[in-house]
Amino acid sequence: MVLKLAGQDYLRAPHGVLSAALAAGPMAETNIYVFGRVSLVLSYAGITEFLKDADRFTVDARKAGHSSAFGMRFLPKSMQILAENLLTLDEPDHTRLRRLSDAPFRKLSIDALRPRIEAQCAALLADMERSGNRDLVTGLCRPLPLQVICDLLGLSGHRREALTKVFAGMSGGSTIEILRLLMKTGWVQDEFRKEFADVRAAPRAGLITELVHAQADGGRMSEDELIAMVFILFAAGHETTTHFISSTVWTLLNERGLRDLVAAMDEDAQATAVDEFMRFCGPVQFTKPRYPREDTEFLGVALRRGKPVCAALAAGNLDPAAFNAPLTLDLARRPNRHLGWGWGPHLCLGLHLAKAECEIAVRQLLAKWPGVQIDGDPMKLPWSRRQGVRGLVALPLTLKS
Ligand code: HEM
Repeated sequence: MVLKLAGQDYLRAPHGVLSAALAAGPMAETNIYVFGRVSLVLSYAGITEFLKDADRFTVDARKAGHSSAFGMRFLPKSMQILAENLLTLDEPDHTRLRRLSDAPFRKLSIDALRPRIEAQCAALLADMERSGNRDLVTGLCRPLPLQVICDLLGLSGHRREALTKVFAGMSGGSTIEILRLLMKTGWVQDEFRKEFADVRAAPRAGLITELVHAQADGGRMSEDELIAMVFILFAAGHETTTHFISSTVWTLLNERGLRDLVAAMDEDAQATAVDEFMRFCGPVQFTKPRYPREDTEFLGVALRRGKPVCAALAAGNLDPAAFNAPLTLDLARRPNRHLGWGWGPHLCLGLHLAKAECEIAVRQLLAKWPGVQIDGDPMKLPWSRRQGVRGLVALPLTLKS
């Protein structure tokens, strides 16, 4: 079965398409720009097995017969450096880099950041009120994760502004926007190199300073790995979070009674609800590809060496074999071992951060404007065209107290 996991019809209402595909079997195929036809693992059990099986499936296409880590024939030099990132490395390099970067992303570190995120969120909502901007995507969902990741990295001044502008330009996820970003990767890397030189000369708070000094300390990280790490944290750290906040707010304003229910919850119950929003409308539709190291068979399907295979997280999250009444949004669902953050060694590094941002954004929005509504027909709003993620381009609201 060849699935179409793109287009406005799918993005507006993906659940029916995904459930029907799951009912037809645990594997399917889809078409992805650049990669062409890829295999998809759909079932929950299949996905968890697949994402843990690094012996059979590598994230580094070079180990499965391709000439570049991303599985593409031609890669410009500036992109080749980015291949040395967490998501394209297997053990032991993956564990080494993950250990160097994970401390600021642990739950306790993120809990300590919450007051700062709350202050940033409150300031952005106040700006929306002052300026009359009613679009939650440009007013909050996009700037909040960008500000938070810049703080965490320790980026400041004019460089922070310039880099934020480049990454924020991806709002629609169109091919032109992505090409524009790709064309800027050389410039972005130069900026990061200048930042490294600055913090070598004058260390300051933030993950960039820590990584630069970890690099100096016995060469545990090469300069290219450092660039790739900061790039992936910047890129992975904001777009998905932007989409998560907008989809969560869209979903909760779209179903009668949900807004008031969530507003009346205590913080623990809201945190549980956010987990369920991630299961039900998480932004990542499918993972980055993995590649069979050799010809193999998985869930009864023959897979050729080097053929890209992705885990359809959004489908696994609706698998009736793993979740009771999967098409029902159950805000008190527990346990909720959903796949929204991936699974296995490449489980999202920033999950506690993204969860905190979404919880804070929803809580503050509903507290400030308890009567908030979507302005216009929710079914006519535009969704980002970038493949593999689901998130709104704009979310116009009526901000009623
Ligand atoms: C709602 C927001 C987010 C979602 C839904 C999300 C989802 C994911 C998923 C599904 C993966 C695994 C991809 C795969 O296996 O191919 C992943 C990996 C990753 N995420 Fe997130 N992410 C989010 C936010 C963040 C944030 C805020 C950061 C950091 C600032 C971050 C950093 C990373 C990194 C570094 C990886 C690679 C981990 C590794 O390979 O070890 N993510 N994310």
